[in-house]
Amino acid sequence: MSTSLSTLLRQMPKAELHIHIEGSLEPELIFALAVRNGVTLAYDSVESLRRAYAFTDLQSFLDIYYAGASVLLTEQDFFDMTWAYLLRAAADNVRRTEIFFDPQTHIARGVTFATAIDGIDRALQQGNTELGISSGLIMCFLRHLSEDEALQTLEQALPHRHQFIGVGLDSSERGHPPEKFARVFARCREMGLHLVAHAGEEGPPEYIGTALDLLHVERIDHGVRCLEDPALVRRLAQEQVPLTVCPLSNVKLRVFDSMADHNLPALLDAGLLVTVNSDDPAYFGGCLGDNFVALFDALPLQREHAQQLARNSFQAAFLDSECKQRYLDEVAAFFKSPTGT
Ligand code: ADE
Ligand code: ZN
Repeated sequence: MSTSLSTLLRQMPKAELHIHIEGSLEPELIFALAVRNGVTLAYDSVESLRRAYAFTDLQSFLDIYYAGASVLLTEQDFFDMTWAYLLRAAADNVRRTEIFFDPQTHIARGVTFATAIDGIDRALQQGNTELGISSGLIMCFLRHLSEDEALQTLEQALPHRHQFIGVGLDSSERGHPPEKFARVFARCREMGLHLVAHAGEEGPPEYIGTALDLLHVERIDHGVRCLEDPALVRRLAQEQVPLTVCPLSNVKLRVFDSMADHNLPALLDAGLLVTVNSDDPAYFGGCLGDNFVALFDALPLQREHAQQLARNSFQAAFLDSECKQRYLDEVAAFFKSPTGT
């Protein structure tokens, strides 16, 4: 790829809509926090931890991801993790980020909901004022746990309603269909929260349809398996349901054999509102800019596609129309500037 295209991909204004903040914990920070908190890890060095990042599927990743999150104990830990992510996002000219966090992972270890959300939120506020990155926080329910546990988590979240904008559904997808969480999502909908769910990553395309019909989600996280169902593709195109696609994640978790096999160009050709995201950047080989570069390096994608993807990222964000337009104008101005041409 030309250096000018890779510079453009890294520097264009963009929104990130699918990033698990616990998945941004780099091995170096995991070790630093383990030392700070006296937590013993099953790995004796940064290198041996990194060597364990050879995943065969989603579950093999999740096992290590939850172990990594075990070093997070204090509000400052959550701040440090989030701030480190924001600095990397700023370097990729991320202007808006909508961040997932997994409160149940922390509550199960005795860390309070307030500790986790206050640390993340403090970093997001600082990111807004010091880095000019606007943000929203999305609380995810772990789908391998029960709906009752999700409802209990929602109860604990109520005093913090002002600190998050929506809820999502993540963790092990197969065998945990969206309908398992119909009641808790109905409650969240009544509360006026934004709704998203992982669907069609490893799980079947039917989960995409049921997430839309039974949970009433506004975006599908991943969704790449939709191409197996032409009627579903027509619906997603017609309704312009955003898909938050994560290319490096899909290759690392073996959803696709290689980046050259990724179906993102086909999703774009089908008229879908596709966005590019990093998912768990510390585990999958790179941040948002790296995802764009790897994708464009392996596939027949050009500058026009870059502009479309940058536009889509803001179009799909949970922002009011005025804010969206300001970012879309920023994208247009960038593509008219010397770097963008
Ligand atoms: N939690 C963190 N990353 C995830 C992914 N890619 N799919 C499901 N749950 C996750
Ligand atoms: Zn994800």
